[in-house]
Amino acid sequence: MENRIQGKRILVTGASAGIGRACAERFAAAGAHLLLVARRFDRIEDLRARLSREKSVPIACFPLDVRDREAVGAFAGELAGRQLTPDILINNAGLASGLDPFQEGDWDDWDRMIDTNVKGLLNVSRALVPLMIAAGRGHIVNVGSLAGYQVYPKGNVYNATKFAVRALSEGMNIDLAGTGIRVSMISPGAVNTEFSEVRFHGDREAAARVYEGYTPLYAEDVAEAVFFIVNAPPHVNVQNMLITPAAQRNVYCVERAGQA
Ligand SMILES: NC(=O)c1ccc[n+]([C@@H]2O[C@H](COP(=O)([O-])OP(=O)(O)OC[C@H]3O[C@@H](n4cnc5c(N)ncnc54)[C@H](OP(=O)(O)O)[C@@H]3O)[C@@H](O)[C@H]2O)c1
Repeated sequence: MENRIQGKRILVTGASAGIGRACAERFAAAGAHLLLVARRFDRIEDLRARLSREKSVPIACFPLDVRDREAVGAFAGELAGRQLTPDILINNAGLASGLDPFQEGDWDDWDRMIDTNVKGLLNVSRALVPLMIAAGRGHIVNVGSLAGYQVYPKGNVYNATKFAVRALSEGMNIDLAGTGIRVSMISPGAVNTEFSEVRFHGDREAAARVYEGYTPLYAEDVAEAVFFIVNAPPHVNVQNMLITPAAQRNVYCVERAGQA
């Protein structure tokens, strides 16, 4: 397959773990230049040091909370000032927080999910899209979810945020017609990352149970799919890719060992 991302500048939000980190590794292996963003700066700095040593590609890291609109604006200004406008933006930073029936939902969990998954994606995109428009090119990939297609019990607000990512991906793609910028979305099913540990507020046993009895996706599987999306020829846009473990037929139907 032709490598079209070599030398391209790719910004990955949430690059300190899981899918974002795996994307950074995949893109570095393809010779892309990376801009890595997360709150845990030590982690992206370690990743930067390792990947620049192993893959010899330019990588810059920035501590950033995508919920902080002012900080995101300053970050965009810094990128513009250093002529580091990304060719490709991967809006990956996101999380589930809690798994409670709606009537017992925790306001802090709700704020965290809405502020990160919806408003964080908006903050980053709204700040960077004008730079990409000025450059006359660009590709945005929003990380949605199977949870943006089917609501499951206790998923309520997380589901709502991923339905919103789906609507925003479609809306951004329409509004950016004529700018040279493509907008894509990838919607994974269950991926074995730190996601469930975050959802269960650090309860590792509860998190491990999510992936029991079947083989989930790994972050590298999703990164390979994202690579396919961003590596598509300029006349092609993969608008949405729904990717699940083979055992996960939909949100409700997961073939687990020992279950009928
Ligand atoms: N795992 C799944 O089953 C699954 C399925 C479908 C979709 N997804 C989506 O995939 C994306 C990545 O999740 P993952 O599975 O890779 O989980 P993960 O391993 O927990 O990684 C989440 C990443 O998001 C970053 N992040 C969270 N809040 C942030 C904030 N306020 N500002 C900046 N970065 C932030 C984290 O970095 P810091 O904590 O260092 O900031 C971390 O790098 C999310 O959007 C998630 O909703 C996951």
